[in-house]
Amino acid sequence: MRAFTAAAVTTAALTSLALAGGAQAAAPSGHPASGLPLRTLAAAHHLRVGTAVDMDALAGDATYTADTARQFSTVTPENVMKWDTLEPQQGTFDYSQADKLVKFAERHGQKVRGHVLVWHNQLPSWVTSGDWTADQLRAVLHKHITDTVTHFKGSIWQWDVVNEAFNEDGTLRDSIWLDKLGPGYIADAFRWAHEADPHAKLFYNDYNIEWTGPKSNAVYDLVKRLRAQGVPIDGVGFQGHLDIQYNPPADMAANMSRFDKLGLDTAVTEADVRMTLPADDTKLAQQADAYRLMLDSCLATRHCISFTVWGFTDKYSWVPGVFTGEGAANLLDESFQPKPAFRAVQDALAARP
Ligand code: XIL
Repeated sequence: MRAFTAAAVTTAALTSLALAGGAQAAAPSGHPASGLPLRTLAAAHHLRVGTAVDMDALAGDATYTADTARQFSTVTPENVMKWDTLEPQQGTFDYSQADKLVKFAERHGQKVRGHVLVWHNQLPSWVTSGDWTADQLRAVLHKHITDTVTHFKGSIWQWDVVNEAFNEDGTLRDSIWLDKLGPGYIADAFRWAHEADPHAKLFYNDYNIEWTGPKSNAVYDLVKRLRAQGVPIDGVGFQGHLDIQYNPPADMAANMSRFDKLGLDTAVTEADVRMTLPADDTKLAQQADAYRLMLDSCLATRHCISFTVWGFTDKYSWVPGVFTGEGAANLLDESFQPKPAFRAVQDALAARP
């Protein structure tokens, strides 16, 4: 368990309550998501609570913008720090959307999770269709990491340096990176990111590693080996994309704790809990339990430093577009009304540390 002194808790609680009087004031009762903001409640646990941010919604939907500012103390760009956005053509850069989010975060006292440097998805076609030699592709990846981390240097709290490098059976995923550069691309990516911003916390991030099993064992072995080799890795992100039709990760706290014992930070980075539509009370209750399980696992892990949801309203979820017939995965419904999952998260955070 997190072991904070009573004095530390009291100070944190007072600080966050003082903050609540300002920009993050509690919503007037009757507001859909009334009660103290999640960020205020989380501060008493020395935890940041975050959301992925959809930049179109942030620009065009005032309720979305207000809730993003009020409820969360860390933000993750849902798409705009991915390679296909940042450098759609080789040598042509577009940091504008990502810069907007960094500014928004600064204005609202939020830290930014940078997402993502090395992944097999959302790559620009000039990368995937280039006829590279290994040396050329290595130089391209080095430059991408250096350019990106340097551009945002000083503004990023945690970087997802490598995302989703493993298959379910614990073997390394077949990707352009593994294929051309071999497994050493992972260590290289962390070293290059660290050279560009020595103060950012560098994370390995993946899904379906909430459970103990072949995939999380492989990630565990990897990060243990990287640490032993002196590779600058600071943390492991558990994405937390769950579906109520599968068993919840009952051993998540124990699993996170073994990473904690390696001296690594951990974080829940992309929590959402989808269901087959239409939603009903039974499914929403199961969903609330799953969110609560993930949050409780984080709270029980000493260096679990943030709990981030992958969007907070069903209005802008990625789920229906990707998982046919599924949705309703977020804390608030499409009208920004709190679902049982929101209350479950609120209750877990409101409990005394
Ligand atoms: C998803 C976004 O939510 C979608 O908008 C986009 O079309 C595809 O990517 N794991 C990750 C995230 O690490 O980057 C993915 O985000 C969801 C799965």
